[in-house]
Amino acid sequence: MSSSVDPVESSAVLGSNATPGPILLLGAPGVGKGTQAKELVKIWGIPQISTGDLLRGNVAKGTDLGKLAKEIMGRGELVPDSLVNEMVAARLQEPDTAKGYILDGFPRTLPQASWLDGRLAAQAGTLPVVAVSIRVDYNQLLRRITGRRNCPVCQAIYNIYGKPPGKEGFCDVDGAALVQRADDTERVFEERMRAYEAMTAPVVEHYRALGRFAEVDGDRPIDAVMAGIVSAVERLRQ
Ligand code: AP5
Repeated sequence: MSSSVDPVESSAVLGSNATPGPILLLGAPGVGKGTQAKELVKIWGIPQISTGDLLRGNVAKGTDLGKLAKEIMGRGELVPDSLVNEMVAARLQEPDTAKGYILDGFPRTLPQASWLDGRLAAQAGTLPVVAVSIRVDYNQLLRRITGRRNCPVCQAIYNIYGKPPGKEGFCDVDGAALVQRADDTERVFEERMRAYEAMTAPVVEHYRALGRFAEVDGDRPIDAVMAGIVSAVERLRQ
């Protein structure tokens, strides 16, 4: 996909020793957090940390966490905070997070937010978090979720309506057969939205109140949403 944001230009705005720091991508299921995070990784050279992907990785490997998470995710509910925080803590120990990272799908509850805020406050020299919330209306989200297909090999994200692969059912990058997530049904989506409204919408308000927060209209072409996120982060980091 072509990018309307020049990576060189972007890092120039952030400074020659560009340190994007911790960035949160917030928003309901299907707003495009994963799609955007994958593009932002290319611009800023910092990793995407998706708690959904980490949990699905545990499910695929059959770990104890994966066995527990599989049932919970299948119902569209949230995995307990302590388990998710522990998983994120382990990921944040890895050296590729030194200049920053994009948290996709975390924090999703106020206790998770409070855990993250406390951890960042305790780390001298860490930039404060900036949070970007992506907004898309319910009917569009339902269409995105039920139309989504994923590559199980490279994790590329497609959509049968809006972003189909060149060859139907197969990944453009590695040719693997695309799969549909078990929780991408209308019934589970409704439950995920209920969980979002009850548990995650207050997290958005928490970061809005702290400042260093921006809201971006996600119902635009992928490149336009990305440009909106990049300019919001640059503004918030100045
Ligand atoms: P998770 O995997 O995080 O799911 P989610 O938050 O529901 O978000 P999605 O991955 O469904 O959507 P997205 O916003 O990334 O959209 P995408 O870019 O794929 O979590 C799954 C489960 O894990 C949870 O339900 C929970 O059980 C558990 N979990 C995870 N984190 C947890 C936590 N912190 N605490 C507790 N439990 C946790 O895009 C969607 C579709 O739209 C794609 O087909 C894409 O091609 C298309 N699209 C994207 N952008 C656009 C655009 N601009 N225009 C048109 N189409 C677009």
